[in-house]
Amino acid sequence: MKVGVPRETFPAEQRVALIPASCPKLQKAGIEVVVERGAGERAGYSDQEYQHKGARVADRAEVFQAEVIAQVRAYGTNPEAGREDLARFRPGQVAIGLADPLSYPGRAADFATTGATLFALELIPRITRAQSMDVLSSMATVAGYKAVLLGANLLPKMFPMLMTAAGTVQPARVLIVGAGVAGLQAIATAKRLGAIVSAYDVRPAVKEQVQSLGAKFVELALETRAAEGRGGYAEALGEDFYRRQQTLMAEVVRTSDVVITTASIPGKPSPVLVTDLMVENMQPGSVIVDLAAERGGNCALTKLGQTVHAFGVTILGPDNLPSTVPFHASQMFSNNLTSLLGHLTKDGALRLDLEDEITKETLVCRDGALTHPRVLSLHAESRANRQRKDGQ
Ligand code: NAI
Repeated sequence: MKVGVPRETFPAEQRVALIPASCPKLQKAGIEVVVERGAGERAGYSDQEYQHKGARVADRAEVFQAEVIAQVRAYGTNPEAGREDLARFRPGQVAIGLADPLSYPGRAADFATTGATLFALELIPRITRAQSMDVLSSMATVAGYKAVLLGANLLPKMFPMLMTAAGTVQPARVLIVGAGVAGLQAIATAKRLGAIVSAYDVRPAVKEQVQSLGAKFVELALETRAAEGRGGYAEALGEDFYRRQQTLMAEVVRTSDVVITTASIPGKPSPVLVTDLMVENMQPGSVIVDLAAERGGNCALTKLGQTVHAFGVTILGPDNLPSTVPFHASQMFSNNLTSLLGHLTKDGALRLDLEDEITKETLVCRDGALTHPRVLSLHAESRANRQRKDGQ
């Protein structure tokens, strides 16, 4: 079986789906890698390295002949440039990549018309067996790390406490809201830089993890038992809850130099947890890095991909942070993908066991139709909404 790795075409995307080091492992499992010329260049992996590790370097048309196409961004997360590739897919072929079918079910339906099979990496269940394939966790780890560096870079203060001949420098105070994968890595990174770190999460289970990283867990008088969803994700808690959370969090936000927000609910807009007034009450020079910007943001003032200055506070809403650390982000992505390919194949051929939880939950469409129940119902819902609007 062959896996094709096209060059990513999403603007400014620097990652590559498979790196040279994964090729020998795949070959051992009977899987050949065909990579588009220059596909790994922006991540620091040359064509020569791929060839040295046994991959074939070819043009895009040849890459798309492979049975499986591995992309960082499949069509769902690359709707403009990725549209051109739809014509290259054929029935029975398999595409694996980030496709965000829960946010863009219509794009998943468009992809289904090619007749090819799509596995969306966002849908890998967070279960122990699938940990080695969990691309979202890998990318969130990179994002949590980078968010701290962005915050540190903009803050007019240093992070560590310094006792020098020129006097004592007080350490920066960093607050992390949402201690999932990105949040925990942000805590660890801010600690390494010497800041005083506090964190809050609605899932009580993370308190111990926060403390084990040396951060203080912020206790708020809120009933959060309903927050624990499936697989370490949170459930939405309603507007009333979020209003109370804003009130209770106001003081700790006010006294923080850097606030990093990562609070997300899968498939839903991010809850607004930091209001305009809370920003206004922060010290001038403070920084908010809103990792939840792609789904609307946890701060009311966040603008995706932009730097907002308000009340002397800088608010960043970065998108695609993992792509700014492309070497290691690609390495992690590639390891996750290699593990998934191992799961979907046997003796170098695809063997899709549709009863298996990982395969079933990640599969979006097959044989020209959407197969994933949640994507199907979201698609029906958005079509009904569109028709209602057209009818008005
Ligand atoms: P996760 O699901 O592991 O963590 C989110 C955490 O937020 C969970 O622990 C959850 O309990 C918590 N949370 C939910 N509602 C909350 C509330 N009201 N108050 C406090 N905590 C709350 O997600 P992960 O993988 O850590 O990703 C975090 C965010 O970072 C996501 O929004 C993701 O889309 C984003 N992200 C952004 C990137 C970028 O480049 N901007 C790259 C990668 C991830």
